[in-house]
Amino acid sequence: MQDQAAPHHDDLLHAKKKEVPSDFDRIAKRYDLLTGMNPGYARHLRMSAKRIGAPATGRLLDLCCGTGLSTSALRRVYPHAAIDGLDASAGMLEVARRKPALAGTGFVHGDAMDPASSGLSGPYDGILMAYGIRNMPDRDLALSRIRELLSPGGTICFHEYSVADSTIARSVWRLVSSTIIIPSGRLFSKEAGIYEYLRESVLEFDGVRAFEARLARAGFEGIETLPMDGWQRGIVHSFIARRPR
Ligand SMILES: C[S@@+](CC[C@H](N)C(=O)[O-])C[C@H]1O[C@@H](n2cnc3c(N)ncnc32)[C@H](O)[C@@H]1O
Repeated sequence: MQDQAAPHHDDLLHAKKKEVPSDFDRIAKRYDLLTGMNPGYARHLRMSAKRIGAPATGRLLDLCCGTGLSTSALRRVYPHAAIDGLDASAGMLEVARRKPALAGTGFVHGDAMDPASSGLSGPYDGILMAYGIRNMPDRDLALSRIRELLSPGGTICFHEYSVADSTIARSVWRLVSSTIIIPSGRLFSKEAGIYEYLRESVLEFDGVRAFEARLARAGFEGIETLPMDGWQRGIVHSFIARRPR
C-alpha cells in the first residue's frame, strides 16, 4: 500500500479560506470589542480610506466590510458619498446593519470572489478592501474581478498585512500574534482557531513587492504602498492601485 502524503501546510491554509466567513459568524458579536483592543485600528482604516482620494460625492464600496468598522472609516472620510458594503458572513453584516451611524449603507451578503453575482451594481469610484484580499482562495481571479467593479480611473485601497519582505516585521508579527492576539481571542471569544489562522495567513501572504507585482499583472496602474504608524509600521500597509482609464 502506498503512503498517503501528509497535507501540506499551505494546502490546509488554502482550504481554510473557504471557511473564513462562517468562522466570522461565530465571533461577530465580539469582533468590535477585540479589534478595539488594537491601538490605531480605526484610525488606520481612516488613513487608508483617505488615501483612496475618491470624489466627495462618489460611489464607494467596502469589500469584506465585516461589522462595518471599515465602512465607518469610509463614512467618516466621505460623509456625502453613496456607500455599499459586501461581506460573506451574515453574522458580521447583522452587526453592521444595526449601527445607526451606517444607516443608508447598501449592505449586501455575497462572495468577494464573485462580486458580480451578488447583485452589486458598479462601477465604483473607489473601493476599500480591508483585511480581505489575504482571505481570497484565488487572489489573481479575485483581483481581476474586483478591477471590473471600478470605474475607469477609479482607485482601490487594499488595507492589508504583509510581512514577508522583512525579517523584523515577521518577528514582530509572530510575537504579537502569539502572545497577545491569540490569547485575547481565546479569552474573549472562546475561538482561538480564527486567530491562529490569522497568524498563519499573514505569514503566508505575499510580500510587498510580490503583491505589487500581482496588482500590476492584474492590470492595475498607479500602484503605491504606504505605511501605517505605531507598532503596525511595516506590518500593515495601504496598497493603492488604479483601474486604467
Ligand atoms: C478581518 S474581517 C475585516 C472586516 C472589516 N473590513 C474591518 O476592517 O474590520 C474580514 C472579513 O472578510 C469577510 N470575508 C472573508 N472571505 C470573504 C469572501 N470570500 N467574500 C466576502 N467576504 C469575505 C469575513 O466574513 C470578515 O467579515
